[in-house]
Amino acid sequence: MSLKTARYGLWAPLMAVMVLAWAAPAAVYAQGDAARGAKLAYTCLGCHGIPDYRNVYPTYHVPKLFGQNAEYLVVALGEYKAGARKHPTMNGQATSLSDAAIVDIAAFFAGATPLKGNGPTGQPPAIVATCAACHGPEGVAIMGMYPNLAGQHADFLESALHGYKKGTRQNAIMQGFAGQLSEADIKAAAAWFSAQSPGVWTQKANGQKF
Ligand code: HEC
Ligand code: HEC
Repeated sequence: MSLKTARYGLWAPLMAVMVLAWAAPAAVYAQGDAARGAKLAYTCLGCHGIPDYRNVYPTYHVPKLFGQNAEYLVVALGEYKAGARKHPTMNGQATSLSDAAIVDIAAFFAGATPLKGNGPTGQPPAIVATCAACHGPEGVAIMGMYPNLAGQHADFLESALHGYKKGTRQNAIMQGFAGQLSEADIKAAAAWFSAQSPGVWTQKANGQKF
């Protein structure tokens, strides 16, 4: 059994449970009006439209939203609204939006060019094989309901993973995975995904798959 098979062997049962848990309450996703979303997103750009803007405490970059999957943005905003993600600023922002406004804003952000990183470099760290099933080997999600991680700020990805571990982000799938990650895994995965520009690594790897 190769090292990679061994890793999958370890994670496969968890993945199966998590995928099933997710599939059951799958939300119906409607296409939004990006032009209306652009107007509604005006206040959001005060933070999300400024490159290098940071959350004050603890300090980490405000996530990039342009090029993110619309379906995932709707899910994320719904979680802030419902309090399943705890972040006072975003809880306030999301609560002020109607469900229709959320769908339109998501269409606006998703319509832009994809997230881009400065990499890729070398081979992916072993832990990435576990994440690739949903987030893709270079952070381009296999389905719209999963977030793209490619080109996202590394410190934000780390903060999100810590959130799932601590329970300040409640999501059955990611709490299951994050709970088993060491600090070294978190750092390695965040560094790898944040460095990716969609399509580049896959080309270099010449069809190699996990
Ligand atoms: C004052 C700054 C600020 C404003 C204004 C703001 N955000 Fe945020 N947003 C943040 C921060 C900080 C985070 C990271 C929160 C966390 O750690 O969960 C975030 C996270 C998010 C996420 C989660 C992204 C992901 O990949 O998980 C979405 C979606 C989002 N914001 C959308 C919006 C929208 C839509 C608006 C406008 C209605 C908005 N934000 C306004 C600071 C802001
Ligand atoms: C079975 C599918 C699946 C697997 C495997 C998976 N994830 Fe996720 N991931 C998700 C889903 C679904 C979300 C959105 C959760 C939510 O709504 O908060 C997510 C969210 C995230 C986020 C938050 C991104 C953001 O923009 O807020 C990070 C970071 C993340 N995953 C990293 C990882 C890492 C690292 C691994 C591998 C150790 C991994 N994931 C494995 C499905 C998966």
